[in-house]
Amino acid sequence: MPQTDVIIIGSGIAALSAAYHMRDKHVTMITKSSWLTSNSMLAQGGIAAAVHKKDSWKNHYEDTIVAGCYHNDNKNVEYLVQDGPLEIFDWCQKGMIFDCDKNGQFLLGKEGAHSHHRIIHAGGDATGKELTQFLFHSTKSSINLIENEVVVELIIQNGECLGVYTKNNKGMLERYQASKTIIASGGCGAVYGHTSNADVITGDGIAMAYRSGVEIVDMEFIQFHPTMLHINGKCVGLISEAVRGEGAKLINQDGENFMKDLHHQGDLAPRDVVSRAIFEQMKNGSNVYLDISSLSNFSTRFPTISNLCKQHGIDLSIGRIPVAPGMHFLMGGIRTNDKGETNIKSLFAVGEAACTGVHGANRLASNSLLEGLVFGKRVANHILTLPLEQTAYTDPKWETFEKKKFNKWPSKQQIQKIMTNYVGIQRTEAELIDAVKWFETYQPSFWDFNVKDFTMDEIEIINLLTVGWLIASSALKRTESRGGHFRLDYPESNDNEWKQKQIFRTRAEMY
Ligand code: SIN
Repeated sequence: MPQTDVIIIGSGIAALSAAYHMRDKHVTMITKSSWLTSNSMLAQGGIAAAVHKKDSWKNHYEDTIVAGCYHNDNKNVEYLVQDGPLEIFDWCQKGMIFDCDKNGQFLLGKEGAHSHHRIIHAGGDATGKELTQFLFHSTKSSINLIENEVVVELIIQNGECLGVYTKNNKGMLERYQASKTIIASGGCGAVYGHTSNADVITGDGIAMAYRSGVEIVDMEFIQFHPTMLHINGKCVGLISEAVRGEGAKLINQDGENFMKDLHHQGDLAPRDVVSRAIFEQMKNGSNVYLDISSLSNFSTRFPTISNLCKQHGIDLSIGRIPVAPGMHFLMGGIRTNDKGETNIKSLFAVGEAACTGVHGANRLASNSLLEGLVFGKRVANHILTLPLEQTAYTDPKWETFEKKKFNKWPSKQQIQKIMTNYVGIQRTEAELIDAVKWFETYQPSFWDFNVKDFTMDEIEIINLLTVGWLIASSALKRTESRGGHFRLDYPESNDNEWKQKQIFRTRAEMY
């Protein structure tokens, strides 16, 4: 069995940042698809950091917790916003090129719920792609990269994580032993039908962790990005919030700018507020558009978005882009502290798979690449202080469910339909109960199955069922509205009962 100091699951910014800072160690990075496939690669807007002399980390801190509806872990927010500028300057010194004016000053964009221009970007609207590629090329010579192999289960012995089981693209089970394992496999966008996420983001890391007894929190908080390109009833790609930051307005089919009087920040209100407003417009039968007619040089500032629109036959000279909200980001995930530690020894999590509490109930725009950089480094620095010994390991006896019990699998589309219709932007008790009941008809398949007996497609469905159920049942438990969790039957936040209270999920609660 291959042995390594550290296994990193995933290949986005959080994974690469951790790998970069541990490049003197033997690091194996395992990724489900090619390293080029991640949500980080798709991130458009940029990275938020208070680098301007008129800005400060305190402003960024305040914006983060206001957008997060005061559900954030305040200490971790401080780490995020204080380390942000240092990370940016550090990567610039290493050669990363962000968009600057002719005097070499950052061109700072603005996005929703930010009080200042502080969004640093690269390639116009290709920040995630540029940064991921830069980190990858800075790191690749010091890692053992395994692509097209999916981690299906953690190896846990006596309460310690000793590595992982994977399936390779020939369906063969492999084992890797490691002193430390980091889950950086992203969130679970594919559990919804309309998503800005890469197709491969099926909640694998979170579901696998849950099966292994890892604590999961805040699963009810889902961020729907307000503006995905909406063509023939389908969301087909992201239209960055930075477009509104440059002055674009949201209009309904009567040309009315419906955000103007709805929130003091208008079109740049927090994402949860804007998504709900668009959803209401659409529920009332109106299409919604981004009016970009006041923006000059749109194609130069937003080349990725311009190409996306052209691919889908949108004539930008008309000045209107059809948009709708889509699942974008999971605020919850694997519960970690500020060093990425989970409740299982030698198991760490970072990035969207993790929940450090930095995002609260609704992530502030462009804080996710930042989280990947800052917390990737923090996890790495912590691991570097620990002994990297290998613990002797014996193969477990798998508790095997007979495969024939689960021969009626739901499709990915069925799961997405339940989530969109019953666990979407607006939720009610009755619909959440229906969703939870539906998921529980498949519940025995959530755990203790023998991964050897299941195909990769089946394991993906099991993972989607697990995260779908975690989201729906957590949403049912939280009887208030806050950020990315909105209940029509409890439309207000209830600070007395719920402020900073997290819903923990562990396998002990198994039905
Ligand atoms: C966007 O560009 O609108 C997305 C950036 C983010 O999710 O923070």
